[in-house]
Amino acid sequence: MNNSIRCLTLAVGALLFSARGTAQVAPLVANIDARQTTSLDGSWQVIVDPYDVGSVDYRTQPLKNNHAFYKNHKPDSESELVEYDFDTSGQLHVPGDWNTQRESLLFYEGSVWYERSFDYAKSPKNRLFLHFGACNYLAAVYLNGEELGEHEGGFTPFDFEITDRIKPRGNFLVVRVNNTRRKDQVPTSNTDWWNYGGITRPVTLLEVPETFVQNYFVQLAKGSTAEIAGWVQLNGPKLQQNVTIRIPEAGISKTFATNSLGRAEFTFTAGLTLWTPENPKLYSVEIATEADPVTDRIGFRSIEVRGTDILLNGKSIFLRGISMHEEAPTRAGRAWSEDDARTLLGWAKQLGCNFVRLAHYPHSEATLRMADQMGLLVWAEVPVYWTIQWENPETLRNAENQLSAMIARDQNRAALIIYSVGNETPISDARNLFLRHLIQDAHSADPTRLVSAALQSTEEAKGNRTIVHLNDPIGSDLDVLGNNEYIGWYSGRPADADSMDWTSPYDKPLIMSEFGGDALYGYHGSASARWTEEYQADLFEHQISMLRRIPFLRGMTPWVLKDFRSPRRTLPRFEDYFNRKGVVSDHGERKQAFFTLEKFYQELQSGEPPK
Ligand code: GCU
Repeated sequence: MNNSIRCLTLAVGALLFSARGTAQVAPLVANIDARQTTSLDGSWQVIVDPYDVGSVDYRTQPLKNNHAFYKNHKPDSESELVEYDFDTSGQLHVPGDWNTQRESLLFYEGSVWYERSFDYAKSPKNRLFLHFGACNYLAAVYLNGEELGEHEGGFTPFDFEITDRIKPRGNFLVVRVNNTRRKDQVPTSNTDWWNYGGITRPVTLLEVPETFVQNYFVQLAKGSTAEIAGWVQLNGPKLQQNVTIRIPEAGISKTFATNSLGRAEFTFTAGLTLWTPENPKLYSVEIATEADPVTDRIGFRSIEVRGTDILLNGKSIFLRGISMHEEAPTRAGRAWSEDDARTLLGWAKQLGCNFVRLAHYPHSEATLRMADQMGLLVWAEVPVYWTIQWENPETLRNAENQLSAMIARDQNRAALIIYSVGNETPISDARNLFLRHLIQDAHSADPTRLVSAALQSTEEAKGNRTIVHLNDPIGSDLDVLGNNEYIGWYSGRPADADSMDWTSPYDKPLIMSEFGGDALYGYHGSASARWTEEYQADLFEHQISMLRRIPFLRGMTPWVLKDFRSPRRTLPRFEDYFNRKGVVSDHGERKQAFFTLEKFYQELQSGEPPK
């Protein structure tokens, strides 16, 4: 591999280093589903290892001998002591969290070892990558008894190149996944969602030519509805060559030469039907080198802010949204499939949404592509959630890695309009500095999209009214303000919203990124009785009338689409380890608040301005 490829790989790889320094994670290969792939999904052998005896000895020194589980060693003789055996230790399904596959693992946090054997006949000149959609939280990956590397972060994809390590027969892949929570992580050790562990998204073998199209960006230029601006990045020995961008339906075929680092940047005009939620037009776009033609389905739209307005394709838009977690619609556990995405986003569409907030971490690529197809604009977020270690450079690097991986994976999705760099983070100089790094990273990696964060506000009593101030200093660095408030649930009564007036020092649009209250589906009573559907619906009524009065409000994503598991919710009968703020229950049943919100969104769709 010559020097320019080496510094290229290092440059890109630096973005994806795991905090543990074993840096063999390869640069992210985009759009893997359009490549030559082999799925490794299915039942994997597993060993649950709460004391990490598979990786350290009784002095907690790393194991390197056959006692290490990644060796997958079998006794050579009846007298050899081997105290583990993948083949008789049971199985778990991949992809899938382990918590909902075995009752005994529901609350389990620690290490689980996965093993999968496979044969693979690679074409001689081709390269081979092993791709993980996501593993929560820390993954150590081994092939044929050798370490490939580690990855930190539970919601972003990562690859390893295994071209020189693969055998035609008898390969064994071992992955140690650990979801132990620690303060220096992202997210930190305290969240209001279940810490689902495991190989939670698909695992795929990816065969590509020696020099291949590693990633690309083909979108409209910032603020333009007619000019495409983008780039293509190659990876391999033949970095300088021609790349052709074809959009057959629009009669476009443009060829560009890559530079010595394998990168071509381009702009060209194009007459295209613009993507909108009402008409989510996707074009078949081909990005091709001599050896590697990659096809993607891409929509083209512009998104920008002008004062307190948000403009989609130059027109003002109100974002009728809902927040959602990545939990399967009607079965327990993490969602990961196209069907899961279709069902969850289908519920949002039924609500009358044109927008979803994917909280609080990058959801699956399947969800982003489904939003593209179904016509739902997307707010995507990295799990910089509540109070993380702002002064810890490793924590910052980790957050930056997750942000860059999210952008690298989803930057060609028209649906995706907002990157959120945090949720309810306490104001401090260290926090501001930390978030500013992320905001700059997002803007430099992708200048075409908007950056936001879910902030909090302060209240000031004024006579018989309350002034709510959106005065978080980080607001000056954001394109769009987000704000979470729980008027009527954590503070006061639902009717308090009637005397709340919102002010902002910023000439920027606001998205009310969270509001809501808990209700147990089927539990009925007076509107002042907590946990009843009537209380939740009443809260939504008061919220909606307050939101109508906020002059700079340009969107909302009530908390939350569906009841979801949370270890913080221990109240028997009403919570039972579920956050019940869904407008849909964890069995897909619609609560009264669903219809309250649906009615408001229908009003907005019929052209009624929110205010
Ligand atoms: C917070 C937080 C959510 C949480 C919600 C709640 O604002 O952002 O993650 O679930 O409030 O308390 O229900």
